[in-house]
Amino acid sequence: MPILARTPPMGWNSWNTFGNNINEELVKTIADAFIRRGLKDAGYQYIVIDDCWSEKTRDTNGRLVPDKSKFPNGMKALTEYIHSKGLKFGIYSCVGTHTCAGFPGSFEHEFVDAVTFAEWGVDYLKYDYCYKPRNAAGEDLYKRMALALRNCGRNIVLSACNWGNDGVQKWIREAGCHLYRSAGDIHDNWKSIEGIMLSQLNNACFNGIDCWNDMDMLVVGMSGTGENAYVLSTGCNETEYRTHFSVWAMMNSPLMIGCDVRNMSEQTAAILTNKDVIALNQDIEGRAPYCIRQWNNLDNVFSLIKPLSAVSDGDGSDGDDASTTGGDYAVAMVNISDVKAEMSLQFYDIGLPYASGLGLEFYDCWKHEVIGFFTERASIDIEPHECRVFRCKVKKA
Ligand code: GAL
Repeated sequence: MPILARTPPMGWNSWNTFGNNINEELVKTIADAFIRRGLKDAGYQYIVIDDCWSEKTRDTNGRLVPDKSKFPNGMKALTEYIHSKGLKFGIYSCVGTHTCAGFPGSFEHEFVDAVTFAEWGVDYLKYDYCYKPRNAAGEDLYKRMALALRNCGRNIVLSACNWGNDGVQKWIREAGCHLYRSAGDIHDNWKSIEGIMLSQLNNACFNGIDCWNDMDMLVVGMSGTGENAYVLSTGCNETEYRTHFSVWAMMNSPLMIGCDVRNMSEQTAAILTNKDVIALNQDIEGRAPYCIRQWNNLDNVFSLIKPLSAVSDGDGSDGDDASTTGGDYAVAMVNISDVKAEMSLQFYDIGLPYASGLGLEFYDCWKHEVIGFFTERASIDIEPHECRVFRCKVKKA
């Protein structure tokens, strides 16, 4: 099988904003917005419908049937539309007897469902964990769907969603999945973002090419709106949404947008299409970051440090750049406290002692400019809930 997720998948998922209220027209207009609002150009590719797309019962051949009023022309017509825009289509099912919202799950129907999805032209399957028979091992059920997809005649990305249960990091890569949810569901508020972010710092080491740690769909731009009561909350301010996007990008999480991109604000579009930040997420080496704490502010401020390939333009083709020498480092500095703070990054801690005669040039990925050249350390002010993101070049002092 080819590598289907060389870099973290980027796209949109219907759940956060629309919940049960999905239909053909919505999905088509989202695809149109991908082009119109610059998302496709920024690298977003997958349009994924989540739970609630099917009829409540299978047909007489045991096949899943798209809800006739929501998707009157069936799935094949829809995937053709999406493919005609140069985009890819994702669908949703569940390891259990039912999906979380009570629609038919794929348990004991894995092989027929994989073939059905292939016939419809599906490119991506999100595979949830509800209604799993108690005595069935989740590990075995993900292996089963992975095998079914690998033999269905079409390349389909398998996106596992077991919320980090059952030690998923230990077995999900060898099961054959391409990404996996590692925490519970996100909500559109800062506490939820902070909780997921902190819960995943120690899991960064399990993350890598073709099997990415999915920190959940983005709530950037939802701003307290949407029709899904499970996700709907107070919203965040712009700084917090930037931090959310920055940290997901730095942690190599898939970037699956959750807001209504058809009418997103210019500020939201600017966050979601920030090429400098996306390039860190899509860096071809796929290295996860390590975390450095601030000794005198241990609980509130930390840095994420990620070695990058020499050049990355975010298009996933930089394997060709082997002739380029050097190697930038991405540095993200996060302040989760409610007051302004300073992070002083000692370069010794990232392998750059003063005696080397080298320093770091800091390019600010949100301001899009070089902010300075530092040796030995860089002390940076960070606003409450802010994440400052830099692409750093190693240079002679
Ligand atoms: C949850 C999952 C959500 C969404 C929902 C649909 O289990 O974590 O992302 O897919 O089910 O019912």
